[in-house]
Amino acid sequence: METVEPFDLILFGATGDLSMRKLLPALYRRHRAGQLGEDGRIIATARREMTREAFLEQVHDNLAQRLDSDEFSTSEWEAFAARLGFASVDAEAPRGFDALAASLAGGEERVRVFYLAVAPAHFVQICEHLQGHGLVSGRARVVLEKPLGHDLASAQAISERIGAIFAEDAIYRIDHYLGKETVQNLMALRFGNMLFEPLWRRDWVRDVQISVAEQVGVTGRAGFYDRTGALRDMVQNHLLQLLCIIAMEPPTSLEAGAVRDEKLKVLRALTRLEGKDALRNTVRGQYRAGAIAGQPVSGYLDEDGVATNSPTETFVALRTELANWRWAGVPFYLRTGKRLQERAAEIIINFRDVPHSIFHVTYGAGQPNRLVIKLQPDEGVRLHMMAKSPGDRMELRPVALNLDFAEAFQQHQADAYERLLMDVLRGRLTLFMRRDELYAAWDWIEPILQAWREAGDPPKPYTAGTWGPAASSALLGREDASWHEES
Ligand code: BG6
Repeated sequence: METVEPFDLILFGATGDLSMRKLLPALYRRHRAGQLGEDGRIIATARREMTREAFLEQVHDNLAQRLDSDEFSTSEWEAFAARLGFASVDAEAPRGFDALAASLAGGEERVRVFYLAVAPAHFVQICEHLQGHGLVSGRARVVLEKPLGHDLASAQAISERIGAIFAEDAIYRIDHYLGKETVQNLMALRFGNMLFEPLWRRDWVRDVQISVAEQVGVTGRAGFYDRTGALRDMVQNHLLQLLCIIAMEPPTSLEAGAVRDEKLKVLRALTRLEGKDALRNTVRGQYRAGAIAGQPVSGYLDEDGVATNSPTETFVALRTELANWRWAGVPFYLRTGKRLQERAAEIIINFRDVPHSIFHVTYGAGQPNRLVIKLQPDEGVRLHMMAKSPGDRMELRPVALNLDFAEAFQQHQADAYERLLMDVLRGRLTLFMRRDELYAAWDWIEPILQAWREAGDPPKPYTAGTWGPAASSALLGREDASWHEES
C-alpha cells in the first residue's frame, strides 16, 4: 500500500463548514485505510479560542454523525484523535502564529501542508504571517480553496502575492470536481480506450452538453453566494474544468505539466462571449418559491442573507464553441443551477445522425447515438444506440448500454477530497489548477459578467423544482437541440 512521508498538515478554518463536512471525514477515512503513515500530524486551527479537548469533542460528534456506523469506531477514533492537535490562530493577529511556530519547530524536513479552508479574503494575510514567522519551509505547500478571486484582476492580485511567498509548484488550487471518481474515469474512457478517440471530434459530434444540476438552494451560505452567483461559483471553475477534460488533446502522460498544458489550450480556444453575443448566448436565472421532491421551498429573494431585489443568478445556461481544428463549430452547452428538479451532473456527447437511413420511417425513426457520462449521483456511462426491436418487422428502437460503476467495481468510491488531500501530501499536482489556467478561466468569464452588468436586466425567474427558465430550452431549441433530461 502506498503511504506518505511524515507530514504536518495545518488546517486553517478547522471548525468551518468545509472542514467538518468534507476535510476531516476525508482525513479520517484515509487514516482508517492506513494511508496517513505512522507519523502524520494534523494541526487544526480556528479563530475562536477553544481547548484541544473541546475541539476533539466537536470533531468526534461530527464524524459520528456523518460517517456510516461501520466506518466509525471508538478505537479508530482514538487513533485518529492522537494525530490531531489544535491551536487558536487569528489571521488578523500574529499572536497565534507564534504558538503554531512553536508546535512546528524542528519539523522542517517533514512535508508541511497549509490548507486554507477559510474565506479567500484571508489567504494573503495568512501566507504573509506564515512567511513572517519563518514557517514556509523548503517542503511547505499551500492549498487554496475556491473562489480564487472575484474577477481576473483580483485573482491576479491574490496569486501574485501568494506567488511571492510560495513557488508555483508548492501551490495547490483545489477544484474538487477534478478529484471526483467519474471525472478521473473520463480520462480513462477517453485515453484508455481506442473506441472513442477517432469519433471525438467535429466530424462525428453534433454537440456537447455539460450540466450540473443541484436541488439544494443557498441556505446557510447566502451571504457568500449573493456576492458570487452561479457563473463565478460553478462555471468559472467546475464546468470549465470538465469542459477541458472533455475537449483537450491527449496529453503525453499524466504528469502535471502535460495535462495542464492541454487544459490551458482548451481554455484559450474558447470563443469569447462579449456584448450582444454574450447576451444572446447566455441565460441567467433566479429561483422563485416552488417544491423540491414534494417539499415546498422558498424563493431565492426570501432566503436569509440575500439582498432585496438581488440581481444574483442562481442558474446559468450558455453556448460556446472552441476555435480549434478538433472542435470548430460544435456547440458546447453548459448549464448549472440551484433548486432544480434533480441532482444530476452529466456530460452528454451527442453524435451526428446517420448520413442516410435505410429504414423506412413508419418503422420507427432513428435516433443519433448519445454518450451519457453521469458524474453524480449514480456514477456511470451509458451509450444510447439503435437496435432492432424483436419481431417480424424491421423496426428500430433505442437501447442503452449501461455501465454502472458502483455495480461494476462494488467498492467504496472515494470522495473527491480524499483523493485530493492524498495528492497534496504526495506532491502530485496534476489534479490542481495552475496559475495560467486560473487566469485563462477568469479571462473568459469576465466579458460575460461585463455584458450582464451593462445590460442591467434582472435574471429570469424560474420555479424551484423545474429545469430552469424557459429561455434555457430556447437557447438549444434555436439549433434544434434539447437538454438531455431523463426524468
Ligand atoms: C461548490 C459550490 O464548489 O460546489 C457549491 O460552491 C456547490 O455552491 C458545490 O453546491 C457542488 O459540489 P458537489 O460536489 O456537491 O457537486
